[in-house]
Formats: sequence, C-alpha cells, structure tokens
Amino acid sequence: MYKILVTRNIPGNYIEKIENMEIEVFSGKGNMRDWLLSNIGSADGILITLNDKIDKELIDHGKKLKVISTYSVGYDHIDVEYAKSKGIIVTNTPEVLTDATADLIFGLMIAAARNIVSGNNLIHKNEWKAGWNPTFMLGSEIHGKTLGIIGMGRIGKAIARRASGFNMKIIYYSRHRHDVDADFTSIDELLQQSDFVVIALDLNADTFHFMDYQKISKMKKTAFLINGTRGKIVNEKDLVRALNEKIIGGAALDVFENEPVDNTNPLLSFSNVVVTPHLGSATFETRDKMAETAVTNLVNVINGKEPLYKL
Ligand code: DGY
Repeated sequence: MYKILVTRNIPGNYIEKIENMEIEVFSGKGNMRDWLLSNIGSADGILITLNDKIDKELIDHGKKLKVISTYSVGYDHIDVEYAKSKGIIVTNTPEVLTDATADLIFGLMIAAARNIVSGNNLIHKNEWKAGWNPTFMLGSEIHGKTLGIIGMGRIGKAIARRASGFNMKIIYYSRHRHDVDADFTSIDELLQQSDFVVIALDLNADTFHFMDYQKISKMKKTAFLINGTRGKIVNEKDLVRALNEKIIGGAALDVFENEPVDNTNPLLSFSNVVVTPHLGSATFETRDKMAETAVTNLVNVINGKEPLYKL
C-alpha cells in the first residue's frame, strides 16, 4: 500500500477521503524535520506546507518518493530542481489563491493609505477625544493615484484588475511585457512615479532582497511599499533605514524575512507600517480549494495520472 506523510492538518476532509493509501499525519509532538527524516524513506508521497523546508538531505532520504505536494503556490521552501533530478514530481496550488491574495494586498494598501489600523487602535485605546476635526488623521487617496506593480504574474494581474475599479493609473515592471491594461515601465520609472509600489514576485535567487535601499530610495517621499508575496524579497534592514530616514510614506506587509515576526523586529515600531501575519490566502473558501488541489495533485501522481499543477 502506498504511504503518504502529511505535515499539518489541512481544511476539509480531502485527506480522509483518500482511498487505498496509508496516511500518516505529523502528531505535532517533537520536531517536524526529524519526523520527516525518519519517515520519508518509506513514503511514496508527502503533503507539506510552506513551513517545511524540503532540501537535498530530505530528498535523498526519500528513496521511494514520487511526489512532493505543497499546500501553497510558493515553492521557495523546496529544492525543486534537485527533486526533479531524482524523478520526483513537485506540485503546488496556484490559481485558487490568486483572488484572495490580491484582495488582502489591496486591503493592506487601503489600510496603510487611510489610517484604518491606526484609527482602529486609537478608538480601542480610548484616545479619540477631539471628535471630527478638519485636519485629523489625514491619509492619502487611492483613486487617481499611480499604482506600480512589480511582477505581472497571476497575482499582479489580479491586483491590476482591482486597481482599475478604483480608477488608478497602473504601471508595471516585469521580465516580459504582458497583455494587460497597464503601462510597462523600467523599474526606475516605476519607483519614481508610483504612489503605491506593490510587490507581486515569486521568491527566487533573482528576487531575494530585490527591494533594497538603493531601490527604496528611488520611491516618492510619500509613497507606500506593499508586500504580500514573500518577505525575503524586501531587505528589511534597508526598509527600516528608509523608514527611519522618512524617505518613503510607509509600508504594508503581510510577509516578513522571518516568520513568525519577533516582537523585537524594528518594523513593528513604525506607526506608518501596517502588518498582518501572512494572511494572503487565509479565507475559508481559498484554504479549502488549496486543500482539494493539493490532495488531488498528490493522489493523481501516485495513481500515475497528471497532477492539476506541477513545477
Ligand atoms: C502561498 O501559498 O505560497 C502563500 O504564501 C500562502 O498564503
């Protein structure tokens, strides 16, 4: 009987419905990596999440492994090329989370521009004393402003669709031109012209620390940097420096270089930085669709069929 390792419980009952396979779910006791290292040798497939680093050592232990199915669109936690060189199929869950992630990124942008979080905190702390006031908590408008999208994959396109409904001017920078209702620019033009710079890139060797001090310092003094894909695309030290020097208007971040964020992270000390804990795909509907997709990918490969998505 085929054996499947599952590193975390996932929504829905898709795992329970898998037929004719022995399923072992990590109990949560002890160290996940040690559990994987001791069990992967007898596994035909593993269902993992973005927290599980699947490197050469683990892949080498997976003597029978046919499939690595990740419950995520991102795959920077997997040595995909090495897995493929060993004949292992790596699958992920794109598309189903595009809209939820774009919604959150758009929400972060509005929250940062319009003081939604600081306003909420002010009321909760019982500090709203003066009532309505013509100069109180003024923010930046969204409509009519320039949105610069870095990366024009599925998520970039979904953000652009939302922005056109807000009547924004949309520009983008990407490795290739795309057939989208937005103007292609150089990275420098994008940084200089945008009121909101949104990162919509995958994390890989080329995009690691893509947003460094040199690039951030080209942004407008009033502009916001929004990141909802992977934290390591932004050099956080450089962002902190830029915020300290007040050379940009603020930031909104759903992802961080190290997650969960430590409360000593200096980014948390800025009132013009809105943060959320990696919630891009965190809706009931999307997490359910991700579960269905990840399980279907896994079962299909084990049964000799094409997965829905493979890398
Ligand atoms: C992914 O699937 O890679 C996302 O980061 C999860 O929200």
